[in-house]
Amino acid sequence: MPTPHIGAASDAIAEAVLLPGDPLRAEHIARHFLKEAEQVTAVRNMLGFTGRYRSLPVTVVGTGMGMPSAAIYITELIREYGVQRLIRVGSCGGVSADVAVRDVIVATGACTDSAMNRAKYGGWDFAAVPDYELVAAAHTAAADIGIPARTGLVHSTDTFYQPRADATDIWNRMGVLAIEMETAALYSIASEHRARALAVLTVSDHLGSGEETSSEEREKTLTDMTRIALEALVADRG
Ligand code: HPA
Repeated sequence: MPTPHIGAASDAIAEAVLLPGDPLRAEHIARHFLKEAEQVTAVRNMLGFTGRYRSLPVTVVGTGMGMPSAAIYITELIREYGVQRLIRVGSCGGVSADVAVRDVIVATGACTDSAMNRAKYGGWDFAAVPDYELVAAAHTAAADIGIPARTGLVHSTDTFYQPRADATDIWNRMGVLAIEMETAALYSIASEHRARALAVLTVSDHLGSGEETSSEEREKTLTDMTRIALEALVADRG
């Protein structure tokens, strides 16, 4: 049954889902990576497609930007469509001097300034972590493809235009590699519903150095990141 935000029939969504933020990236991924891809939803122009990667049925659907938007799609995918594995493929801003633009980061934990996880977890601090088997599969897939993936913490923020002057210092002190806007919600919603989740991210810009990637570089890094995520889904033994 279609949900308020996903117009697909019940059986039109695969058990494994890739989640880019941008719906046009979902279309790009479907066209370039999935065989026999068919559009399954377009509610509010949040495009989603289902096809096959190798022999694995995979759906790719946009989440929009930020946790309130992403949480809607993630919750409906898991609760209403029975999705069991979700991999976010997105960009992030480098924070640590140890990461550079174009690096791929497998997010092994997501700190956040959002109140979303606390609201669900009785006011306490929820540990937003990915599924271990998906981490291992992505790390191995990246090495096999020849793209060494970094592992470490990201910070999922509600405010792209950060009002705190000391935010970067705090993130650096606490060992955060990069900043983005969705992963903490993905990990908590997956845990709540016993689904398995991961975020594979590419550093598109660096808050410290000010360096940014060009649009051609972003296309190339999207390709690398997508291959890592899809190969991880195929190889995953969890
Ligand atoms: N902030 C939040 N999200 C991001 C950034 C950023 O600087 N860069 C890419 N995604």
